[in-house]
Amino acid sequence: MEKDYVRAKEILKKYAQEHLLDFYETLDEKQKKNLIQQILNIDFDEIITLYKNSMINEKLTDKITPLKHYEKEKMSSKERKKYIEIGEKILKNNEFAVVTMAGGQGTRLGYKGPKGTYLLDLENGKKSLFQIMCEDIKTKNEKYKITIPWFIMTGQENNEPTKEFFKQNAYFGYEKEKIIFFTQGKLPIINTQGKLILDRFDCIKEASNGNGNVFISMEKHGIIKLMKKLGIKWVSFGGIDNVLLKNVDPLYIGMTIDKKLQIASKSIFKQEPLEKTAVYCKKNGKPSILDYDDIDLEISEKKDSEGRYLYREANMLSHLMNIEAIEKVSNIQLRYHRAYKKNDYINEEGVKEVPSKPNTFKFENFIFDVFEYFDDMLLLRVSPEEEFAPIKDFTGIYSPETAKKKYEKYWKIS
Ligand code: UTP
Repeated sequence: MEKDYVRAKEILKKYAQEHLLDFYETLDEKQKKNLIQQILNIDFDEIITLYKNSMINEKLTDKITPLKHYEKEKMSSKERKKYIEIGEKILKNNEFAVVTMAGGQGTRLGYKGPKGTYLLDLENGKKSLFQIMCEDIKTKNEKYKITIPWFIMTGQENNEPTKEFFKQNAYFGYEKEKIIFFTQGKLPIINTQGKLILDRFDCIKEASNGNGNVFISMEKHGIIKLMKKLGIKWVSFGGIDNVLLKNVDPLYIGMTIDKKLQIASKSIFKQEPLEKTAVYCKKNGKPSILDYDDIDLEISEKKDSEGRYLYREANMLSHLMNIEAIEKVSNIQLRYHRAYKKNDYINEEGVKEVPSKPNTFKFENFIFDVFEYFDDMLLLRVSPEEEFAPIKDFTGIYSPETAKKKYEKYWKIS
């Protein structure tokens, strides 16, 4: 223990993070041990390098071109029928699985606990986001007489509460064995002075390292192996916070197969040219995402010869990949993006501070960074009324109130 303590102190000194031991003397033996172990397990070099590199403002030098998209609304009934038939075959053959990425912190919503346990106050009673998603998958199970394996990625902090929530709710009537939880990686949170922060006297604040960590985590926890054993060929990936997300969509699966592609995404049309949403594009010839910081009015207003906007397909976190594509990217460490988020911390006086504005940086992998490892992808524009009602903030267009209205309108609940 003494040796570990000395080693931890040396590491903290090297990276100018000695404040993390400010309350060490007040801890009991077990707490002391936990804190020292946490320090020894953190890769300080990685987090400090990420922080320093993120301070450099890089200009976009990639060659940007549009990514072709299709519109679901404009599809003929003949095309629809063809794609649905192909997709339904995959479902009926038990070759499809769902991955739900539920490891986020939900800082904007300000809800303590796993976001999937958030209760949406609907006219016909309260329902958690997990229940809403579960019910949607179950309707497809009933329709095709199957039970789709449902993989749920949690954060290390919210893994136990998530599992407990499912247990308490009797897995919402889903076949228990077909719900598989796995955890994702984490990274320390860092403040604007480049200092790690304390969550408690005996614990450094860490958080999930972004939904793009899903592939590495699937590989690490044997999920890809298990999927292959189960004969899974296609997997949908989505977030937990969109209450209209269609995890199981035979048309989407069938169309991707018909176009001989390995990956696909759904998009929604970006109404406002300068709205803060990322859009699909190609960068240096590969499918990618154009961050809203890199979008100006000129790009946003660009149209093709038929008058269609070239850069207005917004990302809605609904992706589809085949198992070979998942395997291909499962060992790739994607780049990290810096996000500015609200995080509680213990101040120098040992008092918990609860900020009202973002105060810390978090580094995250984004799932869409895998697209560039493929030559092409399917992009399918869908209707936001039918498929997009995310809960991100407490108020506004992505609030529980708006999501409730859209959900009830879609499902005709009154
Ligand atoms: P967001 O990027 O909206 O983040 O996640 P968030 O953590 O839920 O909320 P904020 O930004 O702190 O307010 C989109 C989806 O990706 C999942 C989330 O759970 C959500 O379903 N996610 C995000 C992960 O699974 N892991 C992460 O590390 C981050």
